[in-house]
Amino acid sequence: MASKITPFVFRSTFRPARIPSRTQRRSFVAGSRLSSDALNVHRDTPENNASIPFKFTEQNNKLVDEILKRYPPQYKKAAVMPLLDLGQRQHGFCSLSVMNEVAKLLEMPPMRVYEVATFYTMYNRSPVGKYHLQACTTTPCQLGGCGSDAIVKTISEHLGIKAGETTKDGLFTFVEVECLGACVNAPMVQINDDYYEDLTPESTVALLKALQASAKDLPAEGGKGAITGEDKNVKSGAEVGKGGGRIYEIDGVPVPSPGPMSGRKTCENIAGLTSLTSEPWGPEVFREDL
Ligand code: FES
Repeated sequence: MASKITPFVFRSTFRPARIPSRTQRRSFVAGSRLSSDALNVHRDTPENNASIPFKFTEQNNKLVDEILKRYPPQYKKAAVMPLLDLGQRQHGFCSLSVMNEVAKLLEMPPMRVYEVATFYTMYNRSPVGKYHLQACTTTPCQLGGCGSDAIVKTISEHLGIKAGETTKDGLFTFVEVECLGACVNAPMVQINDDYYEDLTPESTVALLKALQASAKDLPAEGGKGAITGEDKNVKSGAEVGKGGGRIYEIDGVPVPSPGPMSGRKTCENIAGLTSLTSEPWGPEVFREDL
């Protein structure tokens, strides 16, 4: 037995001596800090800290009761997402106080609510502008139509902000997001709850101008950002609407209605139908070549 393990012990003992000593070096890369749209830790700010009171309004309390009725009482914490959404809509963003109030209502540890709110990007944990622009920059939008790069550039240049920033007047917050599920109408942006699709730089500028003009603190005509019709290359919201056939008004200002801004109704072929162009055969119609 001893003769069997002797070579192993011999080798193990002397092998380290044969390996030349190497200096252990670990490289240190000083790269630029990645900027992100959302901070994943909470830092108290004057507009977002636990001492700011938050309660649901009387009207929203009725909605809270409605939402809670959808779940068995012992599973009421399942309502955390709709209640966070309701709180965000009331308060403007999903503040610490909103999250704490939801935790209190649902009798769950606040940390569990923070976990949900930090996982889903739809919860804005810092204030956003009146119009929250979310430009999709995933591959289909990057390749479709004029491409999302052109749309991002147009928005940045027109508003004078980069992704992740809010305009000084608090009107627009602009972020880049991943696929929003409207790839067939690329490129697109989500503005608050609405999708604007089949965008071009021109229709994007017209849309932004129409939204600027619709804001209460901006005049509908004249003034920065209003539809003036001076720029011949830029169509007004109404003109864009004529192309698409649909407009609606905010504070008396025509704004292109959500959906495709190319004239398409949904996601049909813009060049027209290429199949199913005739009346479908009924049961009494037979092929003539038979
Ligand atoms: S890639 Fe933009 S909506 Fe899907």
